Amino acid sequence: MSAIILGIESSCDDTSAAVIKDGYLLSNVVASQAVHEAYGGVVPELASRAHQQNIVPVVHEALKRAGVTKEELSAVAFTRGPGLMGSLLVGVSFAKGFARSLGIPMIDVNHLTGHVLAHFIKAEGEENKQPQFPFLCLLVSGGNSQIILVKAYNDMEILGQTIDDAAGEAIDKCSKVMGLGYPGGPIIDKLARQGNPKAYTFSKPHIPGLDYSFSGLKTSFLYSLRDWMKEDPDFIEHHKVDLAASLEATVVDILMDKLRKAAKEYKIKEVAVAGGVSANNGLRNAFREHAEKYGWNIFIPKFSYTTDNAAMIAITGYFKYLDKDFCSIELPAYSRVTL
Ligand code: KG4
Repeated sequence: MSAIILGIESSCDDTSAAVIKDGYLLSNVVASQAVHEAYGGVVPELASRAHQQNIVPVVHEALKRAGVTKEELSAVAFTRGPGLMGSLLVGVSFAKGFARSLGIPMIDVNHLTGHVLAHFIKAEGEENKQPQFPFLCLLVSGGNSQIILVKAYNDMEILGQTIDDAAGEAIDKCSKVMGLGYPGGPIIDKLARQGNPKAYTFSKPHIPGLDYSFSGLKTSFLYSLRDWMKEDPDFIEHHKVDLAASLEATVVDILMDKLRKAAKEYKIKEVAVAGGVSANNGLRNAFREHAEKYGWNIFIPKFSYTTDNAAMIAITGYFKYLDKDFCSIELPAYSRVTL
């Protein structure tokens, strides 16, 4: 019998629903929330309210595009955490109510596991190259920067992670300092393509092991700008593209240095990237260069699977469904949870 999983994601500011049948993606609908742009960041209460408005039409659309009726569903998988509590609660409550009303199992999914397992989404007409276990996954988003050793679908170990800011958070904050819009990541990415990555140098952390740190870079960026603006008040406007390119290059260098170290230490050449920052062109190019130079077999997700989406929740739910790893209706949402 077929396994048809509805996935629901509402951890931050995207309401998403997806349907996966026997491991194949049938639909993935994402409603983003433009309401936060005016505030330069996600406003939790507004996010939660927008999720409430979006969740029913988004699920309806996902089922419609998949050509699946709710009665055909085998289980409902949902993001349990980490994320914003008010946002999570909308998806979690909806998923539990929906599954209970249909009399089918509910499956809790860790958002971070979902990002990693996005590499296993199979869809008609898409390349289906998947990493072999064990592989390394660099998970870089607005809230996380981690190097994960993925031993199996359900067995992952964090080898290193940020001790302060995440890579995406640092880029977003530096972009804010430059007076650019929110989120800064895609804006910096676009500007960086026209700039010189070697124009400026910013401080890089010196911490042992495989952990990351990005708060020093943020401070170095801010102080450097202040000094340069004393000489030229319009420094940012005059040097926008070079600043973006140099900032991006520094973040990419920091990320790749530790990833290279991990690959060497664990003797692994299967290397994947996941999370919102993996949409970044500089990072994608660095992966391609490492593939050539070090013989890495690299895995870069399709753009729509890098940012928050329910397809990754549905595929993770599918694997858990095969393991009969269901959850109870009492299970609460978690704003902070590790892998
Ligand atoms: O995974 P994600 O969508 O959300 C979570 O944090 O869970 O990641 C969002 C982060 C933001 O910091 C955003 O600025 C960054 O990903 N981002 C990018 C790019 N697209 C999104 N950073 C650099 N270059 C991009 N093209």
